[in-house]
Amino acid sequence: MKIISSNHISSLQSQLRYSLALWPLVCAVFLVLVAVPNARAVNNGLARTPPMGWNSWNHYGCGINETIVKQIANTMATNGMKAAGYEYVNLDDCWMATSRTSSGALIADPTKFPDGMAAVAAYVHSLGLKIGLYEDVGTATCQGRPGSYGHYAQDVATYISWGIDYIKMDWCNTSGLDPQTQYTQFEEALTAANAQIDFSICDWGVNDPWLWGPSIGNSWRTTGDIGDNWTSMVNNLESNAAHASYAGPGGWNDPDMLEVGNGGMSAIQDQTHFAMWAMSAAPLIAGNDLVGMSSTTLATLTNANIIAIDQDPLGIQGTIVSDNGSGLQVWSKEVTNGIAVALFNNSSSTSNMTVQWSGIGLSSTQSVSVTNLWS
Ligand code: GLA
Repeated sequence: MKIISSNHISSLQSQLRYSLALWPLVCAVFLVLVAVPNARAVNNGLARTPPMGWNSWNHYGCGINETIVKQIANTMATNGMKAAGYEYVNLDDCWMATSRTSSGALIADPTKFPDGMAAVAAYVHSLGLKIGLYEDVGTATCQGRPGSYGHYAQDVATYISWGIDYIKMDWCNTSGLDPQTQYTQFEEALTAANAQIDFSICDWGVNDPWLWGPSIGNSWRTTGDIGDNWTSMVNNLESNAAHASYAGPGGWNDPDMLEVGNGGMSAIQDQTHFAMWAMSAAPLIAGNDLVGMSSTTLATLTNANIIAIDQDPLGIQGTIVSDNGSGLQVWSKEVTNGIAVALFNNSSSTSNMTVQWSGIGLSSTQSVSVTNLWS
């Protein structure tokens, strides 16, 4: 997003003004350099920064198979995404056969994955990447595959035998069940097996998972499913922001997977989506066709300055520090060497925006340097 050149802002001291010259629905992201200390507790030692990777659902839905997954993994390993920090190749719903084996074990759909999941995992690992799977704590997945309810320990043993590194647990078909109880039981199965598996809680915010998720999971969905459109993206973004204080190294609020590159938003809207997920310290799980994507989409997904805001080791989720009620918001996020500031224009027209230093925790006379992270 080439919104501003650094010479426009280098002399500003008490406030940052900038006219958002792109219309509409854009944001600019700046880094204000000051020292900010912070610390936070851990849980299972994984996801010290928000997980980065790819998931099949947003683009492929149920239409995944071994060939697609290998192509995606090959691409991620070689197109700059792995170098930028993406590591998980995650298969969502419909990877498994429609029923368990006679001994109750999960198996991959033999038509879609003829070599079996252990072979797919070995292939992904051979590229220096990690692999994730989807399941559901209820009796069936959202697409009607076998759920994990009653099989938590057995399924964890299966994942370990295959070399699975990440598990997303959904919340379909859970009538009469309590999310905290079920997700805690699944976490206990992971812990009992000493599994080194990132645990992604996906209960869509039911029963406030930000309250109990940090002690058992590495991320927890705060919202319903994202759609590939601006309104849905902003709804998830703003809803997720309310829970910022619960995020930190080891456990993250999850406003859902990225729609960048899926075609429902313009390139500038995709950039805004990506930047605001970074401001939110959200998992950066791409959800598009990595093989066929444009160079513009790849550039958005691999922007090192924006990724560094997401992956900052302090792990502080950004918050809205001012909102004019008409779509103009200033967001700030403390990072290791300063404060990331996003000017978010969700109105229908070009606007001037002002950041007051006092609004981002600085004194009005403080002298700082300001860098435009897009340019
Ligand atoms: C739910 C989840 C989605 C996806 C689908 C798959 O809707 O929230 O992220 O996993 O199930 O069926």
